[in-house]
Amino acid sequence: MKEIDNVEYFNINDISEMFHKKISAEEIRGYFEEGKIKGKKIENEWHANQDAINEFMELLAEERAIMVGPHTIDLSKIELKGRILDIGGGGQGVIGQFKGEQVVAIDPNKSELKEAPSDKDLKIIMDAKDLQFLDNTFDTVTAFYTMMYIPIADHKKVFEEIYRVLKKDGEFVLWDLTIPNRGNNKRDIYGIRLNVKINDKMIESGYGILWNKEQDMDHNSDLAKNIGFKILKKEEEKDTFYLRFRKS
Ligand SMILES: C[S@@+](CC[C@H](N)C(=O)[O-])C[C@H]1O[C@@H](n2cnc3c(N)ncnc32)[C@H](O)[C@@H]1O
Repeated sequence: MKEIDNVEYFNINDISEMFHKKISAEEIRGYFEEGKIKGKKIENEWHANQDAINEFMELLAEERAIMVGPHTIDLSKIELKGRILDIGGGGQGVIGQFKGEQVVAIDPNKSELKEAPSDKDLKIIMDAKDLQFLDNTFDTVTAFYTMMYIPIADHKKVFEEIYRVLKKDGEFVLWDLTIPNRGNNKRDIYGIRLNVKINDKMIESGYGILWNKEQDMDHNSDLAKNIGFKILKKEEEKDTFYLRFRKS
């Protein structure tokens, strides 16, 4: 990233990082060359500012994505007790915005954590597959639209780590997207637009992934049950689900 006249310019690798490298540097270069990212060359390297990147994201959504929603979630009445570990708390860092100082937000992606707007939570670069906390540390663990970003093959390990760091009777609370089988669909990004209500505040967000996986509520609840979690709540709406588990 380079700053010129107080404007931040992102290079090809920065932009690929924004997509968790799911859109490769080569693809990003192609989008610059085709003019689909309105960029300019700085020191002979393609760069774009945030407005150009936002415009490109809209274009990408039109060309390559199926975005369901908008779906509205009201967190105002959701109870999350004690010390909270938020898995994948980068991006909008919704749980950090909701519960502030109660929250330790972890995410392996530094830029996602830096982007998260709350300055009250503690943000740590960490992978949920290998949590650097002692057993029985947290009263609550949350995952807000994070499991959709984690490869299915890693879900079991992540759930085991969450179970380990939760205190006895601690709760794991999970919101996520139902991802159908892609079949022969030409579009290769699947996502959701969300409006998240926290008391008087409304957060508008969109989460999308490369469409190479499928998941639903039962996949997540079965995993949790097999690890030893007790299921407290299972709610499924069109495209989304909400799960609440207790470590017994
Ligand atoms: C885009 S966010 C989704 C929503 C986010 N929880 C929020 O409130 O806006 C998903 C995050 O999951 C993170 N993630 C991916 N793999 C992960 C892993 N193994 N452990 C923890 N977080 C992971 C991604 O880096 C990404 O920042």
